[in-house]
Amino acid sequence: MERRLTAFDIQKIKRSGRKIVMVTAYDYTSARLADSVGVDIILVGDSASMVMMGKKDTRLLTIDEMIVFCKSASSGVKHAMLVGDMPFMSYQVSIEEAVRNAGRLVKEGTVDAVKIEGGKEYADTVRAIVRAGIPVMGHIGLTPQKASMESGYRLRGKKAEDANLIIQDAIELQNAGAFSIVLEFTTCEVGKILSEMLSIPVIGIGSGPFCDGQVLVFHDLVGLYEDSPPFSKKYIDAAAMIKEALSRYKEEVINNLFPSDNYYWKMEPEEYGRLLRMLERKG
Ligand code: KIV
Repeated sequence: MERRLTAFDIQKIKRSGRKIVMVTAYDYTSARLADSVGVDIILVGDSASMVMMGKKDTRLLTIDEMIVFCKSASSGVKHAMLVGDMPFMSYQVSIEEAVRNAGRLVKEGTVDAVKIEGGKEYADTVRAIVRAGIPVMGHIGLTPQKASMESGYRLRGKKAEDANLIIQDAIELQNAGAFSIVLEFTTCEVGKILSEMLSIPVIGIGSGPFCDGQVLVFHDLVGLYEDSPPFSKKYIDAAAMIKEALSRYKEEVINNLFPSDNYYWKMEPEEYGRLLRMLERKG
C-alpha cells in the first residue's frame, strides 16, 4: 500500500540533490490533483483565510476552520506529506496550548506535520511540539501573520543586517528540531546561503532558484485567485477557462440546448403507454 512521505523522506530528497516540490491546497479535489502528479509536500496553508474564505488576511482563520480544511485535503492525499499551518493565536499564548493545537491538527485534521511562522522566539515551542512527536516546519522571511507589525508584505533580506537576522532564525529553528523551513519573499542570496548551510530543506516562495525546493499556492498557479503575490507564476488561466464553461452552460440552458440526448433517459415506450393509460383511468 502506498504511504505518505515522512520528514525523513523529505530530508533524503534534499540529500539526493533533487528539488522538493510543495503545493498549498485546502480541499479534497485540489489536494488529490496535486498528489496525483507526485508533489512531495501538500501544505494546508492559513492563506485559506483569503483564498477560500475571502477574508482580508491570514490572521482571521480559526483552528476549527483549519481542521476542516485539513480533513478535506487529507482525504485526497496518498503519497505527499501533509502539513497543516498553525493559525494565528493557536501557538502564541503558551507552549502548552501550542502543543495541544498541534495535536488537534494531527488527530482531528489528520496531517503529518505542522507549520509555525516565526524564528528564534518560537524555538522552545518548536522543541516542545517535536518532543510530542509531531514534525514541525518553520516559516521565516516574510511572515504574513505579523505583516501588520513589521514592514508589511515586503521583500526581506535586502540589507545585510536583516539577511543575518533571518539566517540566525533559521539556525535556531534547525537546532530546535524543525525538519524543514519555508523561506518566504527574501532576496535569493538568503535562500542560497541557507540551503547550503542547513542540513534541513529550505523550501522557498519568492526567495529565488537556489532553495532546496519551491512552494506555490494551488489557486495562484492555476490562475484561480485574482490577488496573487508578485512571485507566484500562473501556469494556466483556470479562471478564464471556468468562466467560459459557465457562460456556455448558461447559454445552453437558456436556449434549451442542455440537456441534449446524451444527458437524459427515456422510459420504454410500452411502459410510457401503460403510465398514460393509468393516468387516464384516474382522471
Ligand atoms: O499559507 C500558505 O499558503 C503559506 C505558503 C505561502 C508557504 O504559508
